[in-house]
Amino acid sequence: MSKIIIIGAGGVGNVVAHKCAQSSNIFSEIILASRTLEKCLAIAQSVKDKTGKSIKCIRLDADDVTTTTKLLENEKPDLLINVALPYQDLNLMDACLNAKVDYLDTANYEPPNEAKFEYKWQWDYEERFKKAGLTALLGSGFDPGVTNVFCAYAQKHYFDSIETIDILDANAGDHGYPFATNFNPEINIREITQKGRYWKEGKWIEVAPMSIHREYNFPEIGKKNAYLLYHEELESLSKNIPNLKKIRFWMTFSEQYLLHLEVLQNVGMTSIKPINVKGIQIQPIEFLKSVLPDPATLGEKTKGKTCIGCDISGLKDGNKKRIFIYNVSDHQKCYAEVLSQAISYTTGVPARIGAEMILNKKWRKPGVWNMEEMDPDPFMESLNKYGIPWNVISLKPK
Ligand SMILES: NC(=O)c1ccc[n+]([C@@H]2O[C@H](COP(=O)([O-])OP(=O)(O)OC[C@H]3O[C@@H](n4cnc5c(N)ncnc54)[C@H](OP(=O)(O)O)[C@@H]3O)[C@@H](O)[C@H]2O)c1
Repeated sequence: MSKIIIIGAGGVGNVVAHKCAQSSNIFSEIILASRTLEKCLAIAQSVKDKTGKSIKCIRLDADDVTTTTKLLENEKPDLLINVALPYQDLNLMDACLNAKVDYLDTANYEPPNEAKFEYKWQWDYEERFKKAGLTALLGSGFDPGVTNVFCAYAQKHYFDSIETIDILDANAGDHGYPFATNFNPEINIREITQKGRYWKEGKWIEVAPMSIHREYNFPEIGKKNAYLLYHEELESLSKNIPNLKKIRFWMTFSEQYLLHLEVLQNVGMTSIKPINVKGIQIQPIEFLKSVLPDPATLGEKTKGKTCIGCDISGLKDGNKKRIFIYNVSDHQKCYAEVLSQAISYTTGVPARIGAEMILNKKWRKPGVWNMEEMDPDPFMESLNKYGIPWNVISLKPK
């Protein structure tokens, strides 16, 4: 029996609220706090309709550390689940330290005015969390999140040593719009317009954005072009998987998506540098976000499947071995259950499972942790139980 506070009432917040409410034996009290109270109330209504459970809604600016600290001190939750935006990570970690509450998020910190993300800022909280006896679990979504746990599971059960990892993220969903992003457009576009980067033999190799791609045959989806991107789990996995020689991240995009993105970039609409419009300072990307479809509204229209997994090579008993460990999710099935498409669903379910792992103390240990640093087995078991079934296939070693 635990009390949790979910921060952020967007696509992912909606899934976390529904999935936690489905297990009220574990999450007995749920608070949903976000910037726009109306969004919290709409989610609470849907949760009530679907599960019969009431959740408390609070308007909160999570960038205000003093107010957030007071809220935590008053409500005394056992855990804070941060599914607001990456900009709030450090402020919410500070509030958790002040009020002595465990912390979980799904994306690493990004400064609002710099298109850059890395774990350094959050890893710097290690000593403070350890000293306070608090747990901070970073990146408990799908990628990062499940992908990190897939690697830890492969390391534990399939390999003596892992040499290469290719994380592959395919979305074969179609929402019918010429251009829309499946999660927060600002975060999504910032992620894919930066330079590609991968890690090889201790060094980071940088390449022009979207300049490397290859065709990959995804289970249940078929052949798709996947583009090399930098993604945050590369930073922690390159550090935490021993003997690793190379790790890369790939994501599929349709030609239509890439064409729109190229035009938007060429005309300056993806820039985060504020411009003066009739005396008002506006970030072009923020303006773009406000004209694009709200990802939370895409669920009903999106049809098709996602397939995300890790193509892992290495050695077992002296022999070369290669596996693909993956999940396939169906957008419409996710929508029928919690009124969200598969991208939010496959982020929200791991957040719910990570939360349970902290609350039941299987993953509760003071400090700041990435997912692959924990025992993967109970998490993998829960994936099957709570809506993200996974599979492992053998591939021909390279
Ligand atoms: N690891 C993964 O696999 C993965 C995948 C997808 C997304 N994510 C992460 O999941 C998080 C949520 O994504 P999403 O798609 O749900 O985004 P979203 O739909 O844009 O929702 C974000 C929510 O946070 C709220 N918020 C923003 N700033 C706030 C503040 N200062 N105080 C309080 N609330 C604030 C927003 O409020 P308003 O409603 O007022 O705008 C919105 O309700 C993001 O950090 C994203 O990077 C992770």
